[in-house]
Amino acid sequence: MLRDDIILKAVNLKKAYRVGDVVTWGLRGVNLEVRRGEFISIMGPSGSGKTTLLNMIGILDKPTKGDIIIDGVRVSKLSSKEMAKLRNRKIGFVFQQFNLISRLTVYENIELPLVARGMKRHLRRRMVVDALKMAAGDLTWLKKKPNQLSGGQQQRVAIARALVNNPAIILADEPTGALDRSSAKAVLQTFVNVNKHGQTVIVVTHDPEVANCSNRILIIRDGIIVKEEEPCWDKCIINTVK
Ligand SMILES: Nc1ncnc2c1ncn2[C@@H]1O[C@H](COP(=O)(O)OP(=O)(O)OP(=O)(O)O)[C@@H](O)[C@H]1O
Ligand SMILES: [Mg+2]
Repeated sequence: MLRDDIILKAVNLKKAYRVGDVVTWGLRGVNLEVRRGEFISIMGPSGSGKTTLLNMIGILDKPTKGDIIIDGVRVSKLSSKEMAKLRNRKIGFVFQQFNLISRLTVYENIELPLVARGMKRHLRRRMVVDALKMAAGDLTWLKKKPNQLSGGQQQRVAIARALVNNPAIILADEPTGALDRSSAKAVLQTFVNVNKHGQTVIVVTHDPEVANCSNRILIIRDGIIVKEEEPCWDKCIINTVK
């Protein structure tokens, strides 16, 4: 039986990438339990499997072996359609390069996941505004195009887009990798607020000052989680950058 405070569980997760005859193991057996409301960071050298792990737990890609259980649902038992539905309902993604659509306004970018869900226009408006407010965004951004905002502001718009469906889990792959320190601080402040609001947050980062804002730091090497470290809140970027 799964305890229902476990929002995410990975069991002996393995991923092999085949290119021609060559097989590369992205993950070699990851076991992971994340409690509802936790803020987890994942650190490890380049090529250690961080993005692979995030893509598996975000149901963007299928593991070669092992299983993922999200909010009590065993992902391997689902059809592709059911997987897409689970992903849209439960997971919000944030990427290093924001991945906003440049020809759409900020409003339209945040609205996209709701349009994809087939939600009516009048219901969408409130949710877009609430998500941008929660991501600490300024409502005057709504009419702008992404390139009229700074990198840090664009990343907060991307967080709003990830939040708009009210997903249980927010996954972020190097969300501050393209940002200066003060923008990175604003983005982390946003993740901390989102987490206080109840969302589970999992962030992949190379930056110890980002990892120190979380509740638990997992260290991955060669496709295995090798240890867990205790973060130090005083060394979180929110506290170290003026
Ligand atoms: N699509 C792919 N095809 C083949 N090999 C891949 C693919 N994606 C990842 N790999 C390999 O799997 C391993 C893990 O890659 P992954 O991208 O997960 O690392 P990472 O920890 O995110 O690295 P970085 O810090 O550089 O982003 C690497 O050896 C990589 O070369
Ligand atoms: Mg990566």
